Formats: sequence, structure tokens, C-alpha cells
Amino acid sequence: MKYVIINGSPRRKNTWKMVEQAKKNLNGEFEEIHLMKEKIPLCNGCFKCIVEGEERCPHRDIIQPIVDKMKDADGIIIACPVYAMNVTALLKNFLDHTAYFYHRPEFFTKKALVVVSTAGAGQKDVAKYIDETLRHWGVNKVYKITYACGGKDSLDVKNINEVSQKFARDVESGKLHNPKFGDIVFFNVWKAMAFSKDPIKADREFWFNNDLASHDFAPEVKLNIAKRLFSKVMFFILKRVMK
Ligand SMILES: Cc1cc2nc3c(=O)[nH]c(=O)nc-3n(C[C@H](O)[C@H](O)[C@H](O)COP(=O)(O)O)c2cc1C
Repeated sequence: MKYVIINGSPRRKNTWKMVEQAKKNLNGEFEEIHLMKEKIPLCNGCFKCIVEGEERCPHRDIIQPIVDKMKDADGIIIACPVYAMNVTALLKNFLDHTAYFYHRPEFFTKKALVVVSTAGAGQKDVAKYIDETLRHWGVNKVYKITYACGGKDSLDVKNINEVSQKFARDVESGKLHNPKFGDIVFFNVWKAMAFSKDPIKADREFWFNNDLASHDFAPEVKLNIAKRLFSKVMFFILKRVMK
């Protein structure tokens, strides 16, 4: 199995120790991306990735190789400490550069593990934010490990092992889970936007070139009858709303 680890901490300490413990339960190759070392300039808000295509991002030479590694991986690990009750600026800047995945989700066959450490607070909210971002990218299942170390040099080894073993088993199984209703809603929001009268060019090309436009959800992921029906109804409504 291939895993890519995105480290959103500027250092390799509390959060990284959690990652190292989790790694002991995963078999395969690891690609580490330390965002601090990547020196990604701040997203300048030019909208080029969203409107014209990600290949038009002025920082594509740094971003694209990271994205390629994520696409190549079976499992994506995102590690981040809580800073001012949120993700670090390092991780947020990377997520800003990949915001086009909200419009053009691509990670339907991937599983992810989110690892968050904090001194005392904010870990659940930060993990939830990263989880939601990944689900918007299409990620099939997200596992979360959070820990408040309270300034001590400690680890919750039992929890890290339990969650990372579940993550490993899931990645190795290759099984794809039924999406949540919320995931189906967002899939149809972006799909309906690609069908609108005045669509974003890059979005329209993506949805039609990948043939996602003719599916109720990513074709690799099987929907049960209730969810397939729900998806069709959602698309019918959203297409009318976004005309
Ligand atoms: C700039 C900064 C902001 C922080 N903000 C918070 C915070 O809002 N709440 C909290 O409980 N801990 C906060 N912390 C503590 C870190 O989340 C905590 O020490 C974490 O384990 C550091 O992870 P690292 O060793 O991987 O960098 C902050 C630390 C720094 C440096």
C-alpha cells in the first residue's frame, strides 16, 4: 500500500510522534510532505485554479507534485496541530491551493487518516474541519486520531493503534463504503453547476470529460437503491435551482 503523509506542523514533535506511532500499524511505502519545507507562497486568490484549471495556478510547480502523490496513494494522512483553535496557516494555505477539489472532487477511491494534537482544546473541531474538507474532495472514508497532550511528552498509544489498525485494514481491503447523504448532496451541487447555463469552464470539462456527469455518484462507489434515488431527486432539484 502507498501512503502519503502531509505534515501541517512546522516541526516534527507532538503531532509527528502520533504519526510515527500510527505508521507502525501500516504496511507499505510512505511519502512524507513537510509543508514547512515546501515553502508554498500564500494563495493570492487569483481564482485561476477554480475557473481556468489547476494547471493555471501560479504555484503549480510546488502544488502539483504534492497533489500527484496524493492521487498515487491508497491512503492519505493529514497531520496538524491546533493553532489558535484552528489548523495551522501552513495546512490552510495548502488547502486554499487545493480548493478546486470542492468543485472537481477526485479522491473517491481513497481513505484518509487525520491526526491532530493540541495542548488542551480545539482538537475535535480541527479534525472535523479536515475531515469535512477531505469528504468534499470525494475521499471515501476518514479516520481521526486526536490528542490533547497538555504540554506533556505523552501519547495515547492504545487509541492511536486502534484507529490506525482500522484505517490500515480498510485501505488494504480496497472496499469502498456507501457515501453519506451529505456527500451525495454535495456531489450533486457541483454536478448541477456543471449543467448550468453559464458553467465554470474547468468544472464543465471535468464533469463531462470524466463522465461523472452521467452518474449518480462516482461510478467506483456503489450506491444502494435508497441513495441512488436520493441522488436522482437531489440532481433534479439542484439542476432546476441552478438553471
Ligand atoms: C502558535 C500556536 C498556537 C497554538 N494554539 C493552540 C490552541 O488554540 N489551543 C491549544 O490547546 N493549543 C494550542 N497550541 C499548542 C499546540 O497545539 C500543541 O502544542 C501541539 O501539540 C503542537 O504540535 P507540534 O508539536 O506537532 O507542533 C498552539 C501552539 C502554537 C505554537
